[in-house]
Amino acid sequence: MGRVVKTFPEPFKIRSVEPIALRPAAERRRLLAAAGYNLFRVHAADVFIDLLTDSGTGAMSNRQWASLHEADEAYAGSQSYARFEAAVRRVTGFSQVIPTHQGRAAERILFETILRPGDCVASNGLFDTTRANVERMGARGIDLPEPAALDPADGAPLKGGMNIPAFRALLAHERVKAVVLTCTSNAYGGHPVPLGNVHEVSALCRAHGVPLFIDAARFAENAGLLLLRDPTVRGRTLRDVALEIFAAADGCLMSAKKNGLAHMGGFLALRDPALAEALRNNLVVTEGFESYGGLAGRDLDAIAIGLEEVLDENLLMWRLAQVDRFAQALRSHSVPLLWPAAGHAVYIDAGALFPHLPAGAFPGHALACALYLEGGIRACEIGSLMFPGNDTRPQLTRLAVPWRTYTDAHLAYVAQTAATIAARQSEVKGYRIVSAPTALRHFRAVLEPVAVAERSERVAAAAQTAAAAR
Ligand code: F0G
Repeated sequence: MGRVVKTFPEPFKIRSVEPIALRPAAERRRLLAAAGYNLFRVHAADVFIDLLTDSGTGAMSNRQWASLHEADEAYAGSQSYARFEAAVRRVTGFSQVIPTHQGRAAERILFETILRPGDCVASNGLFDTTRANVERMGARGIDLPEPAALDPADGAPLKGGMNIPAFRALLAHERVKAVVLTCTSNAYGGHPVPLGNVHEVSALCRAHGVPLFIDAARFAENAGLLLLRDPTVRGRTLRDVALEIFAAADGCLMSAKKNGLAHMGGFLALRDPALAEALRNNLVVTEGFESYGGLAGRDLDAIAIGLEEVLDENLLMWRLAQVDRFAQALRSHSVPLLWPAAGHAVYIDAGALFPHLPAGAFPGHALACALYLEGGIRACEIGSLMFPGNDTRPQLTRLAVPWRTYTDAHLAYVAQTAATIAARQSEVKGYRIVSAPTALRHFRAVLEPVAVAERSERVAAAAQTAAAAR
């Protein structure tokens, strides 16, 4: 594949900064233990470089900040809502626009309205809260990622789509109530869904009367990665590619904290006025009236502007190039990565980095903890801790890059820290869960390290017991 990611300088200058500091190593050890070895429980002030997520953590533009003063905080029918609705319509092409306080509220409202126990939702990969909102309805979320997405060593450029033969087989045997195409596929490496795959999924959905929803959290990065990697869209505009993806679907779920470039917010957008009516009736009970859905007018304005800014090709291409340089730096230090890089993050193949740690010892989490202990860096496991019961999935550590926030020097420091850990990988310990809730356990679990030797002894003891039982 020709990787023609150009080096763009930042198409902005920085005029507000926030100091950050690295706590001493001994303090980091104490802080991580006190947080139950869960980075979601560590205070942000104790983190030096925070790559936990790109969600709501980016820098807003001067235009977005200025819009907060112009916002209309009327309860009903505010001008901020009118600007938000117009922006969502322009970008997605959907006429019905329902604001929500963030992506997972959109998920809850949609799934409460359309799912019943026993239904199933098929996807290229449901992200954590999307899956949890399907499962809380007694329905099943079935991930059908492209086989290449399950093989970290496969460097195919466009592997974010859905496995079409597996989807056909599912449609033949199951009551599929809806399909969610996550653009980009955050649960399996942030790869883009190719346009051809969107159309194949869409055609199958239409043939079987199944509604197709785009999880659009990173729709612009999906379109941008296609411009770089998918020869069928070469020469087109970002806006045009994004619109074609939305046009193939019945609606979308959006976390505006990602590609809305805002600190809070989300929406549902769709074509069907009758379904929109049912969704609005649900919205008003817990989120708020249909013209604000749990958001302030100023959030709606920030999103309206963010949705336009994210489709600025100079900004988007700078974004993709920055993440790509970060991935190249890690690669040059021989850190095993999912390749090519995603648009919003770099995913380290922690399973390959720590061959001594089985999935049940959470290698992705072990690396996230090691990054904090070594360099004050916060990252997020995407493996068996986040998605229990699926130990065959890749064991990943995601280093998400917030928009317009860190410079290449920050990311070079992260790459060097990862290289230091990789150089003595056999010393890194696995983890076990001390206590955890059943749903979305990774957010609130308490863990503890398991000594490598102790773990081996336990594995050997378990093997002996199993052998004796046979
Ligand atoms: N869909 C995708 C693909 C996501 O990545 C997320 C959140 C959501 C839905 C839910 O949106 O947070 O606004 O409720 N992802 C986060 C992450 C938090 O770190 O990737 P939300």
